Amino acid sequence: MKVSVFRRAHFNAAHRLHNPNWDDARNKAVFGLCNNPNFHGHNYELEVKVRGEIDPETGMVLDLAWLADLIKQHIENRFDHKNLNLDTLEFRELIPSAENICLVIWQILRTHIPQTFDLLVRLYETPRNFVEVGDC
Ligand code: NI
Repeated sequence: MKVSVFRRAHFNAAHRLHNPNWDDARNKAVFGLCNNPNFHGHNYELEVKVRGEIDPETGMVLDLAWLADLIKQHIENRFDHKNLNLDTLEFRELIPSAENICLVIWQILRTHIPQTFDLLVRLYETPRNFVEVGDC
């Protein structure tokens, strides 16, 4: 029987949604306020779900302190208080939409979490708008 464990995290970041292949009118029509040339911020809320078997020696699926530290080291330290477009390599070319941010976070965490676990990442860009990437 597989059991899921969750960790929540948080970061603030600025972004601009802009497709350089389009003119200003089309960018504004598609991206609206998120196309503001001088950027704007979001309070991103992150939920990370890891699913696996309970280890009979610990009674735990995994050590949530380890997961918390992993998220801190690889996600919060990388993105918190950053301008995603200007300050991060990940979004130099990639549009920092909630979908792409969530996918990048999933890809980063996936490389650090053993393949015996399923991984799902949910990212809230606002309390009402959120996206998910994952396999559980
Ligand atoms: Ni935005």
